[in-house]
Amino acid sequence: MTDAGNSSSPVPSQGAAFNSAASNSAGFYIAIEGWEASGKSTQAELLAGHLDATLSREPGGTQLGRSIRRMLLDDGPIPTDRAEALLFAADRAQHIQEIVRPSLDSGRHVVTDRSYGSTLAYQGHGRGQSLEELLWLSEWASDGLLPHLVVLIRVASDEAERRLGPERDRLESEPDEFGDRVRLGFDHLAAADPERWRIVDGNGSIDAVHQRVVAVVDNWMTKRALATKRAGDNKRG
Ligand code: TMP
Repeated sequence: MTDAGNSSSPVPSQGAAFNSAASNSAGFYIAIEGWEASGKSTQAELLAGHLDATLSREPGGTQLGRSIRRMLLDDGPIPTDRAEALLFAADRAQHIQEIVRPSLDSGRHVVTDRSYGSTLAYQGHGRGQSLEELLWLSEWASDGLLPHLVVLIRVASDEAERRLGPERDRLESEPDEFGDRVRLGFDHLAAADPERWRIVDGNGSIDAVHQRVVAVVDNWMTKRALATKRAGDNKRG
């Protein structure tokens, strides 16, 4: 496996400032991330069912997003690296405003199949574009709202390769080294922001992985509730 192409760049701080716009929401915004064929779409659906959350995805969670998704993944004009990053950002902007923020504001949790982590892993580590600039772009597109929790589903590369099969879209058809950089990029991102990111082993049955995801999310929610209560107690005391 080659090292991530962008590992020499600092991993940008995905800090609290980015969630300033989300601080008044009652619902939690949870992203499921991973390399191709990691089973994340199935796990996002199961988690949304478990939490009675709004289920969505990037790219393609909105009508506009579905057009952008076709442009990005189907056969057609190949975007430059910057155009690709901007198209994912446009999808994100629409998704946040149309789906994510209204759901959070109404008190519902949102589970999204991919989010800004994919931009940093694919366009950043995979394509070698600046992580700082891509994080800024994601923040701008989402008006400051990043997922509160990111669950990275990890499967071994040969297992992902086996699950992918011969029919592949544009990004799935990238050479092996691209996949190596993206997978390692995800690991770097998770390591750099342990408050927000959790890693789940994606090997095993769908149900076994779901149980792991639920354990991680429930544990994170409990910790978050305790921290919120403590902060409230401190304010009153
Ligand atoms: P998926 O819906 O099957 O996961 O496919 C989405 C593809 O788009 C996948 O190859 C990852 C890629 N992607 C990016 O490269 N950057 C992004 O910001 C997002 C959201 C997805």
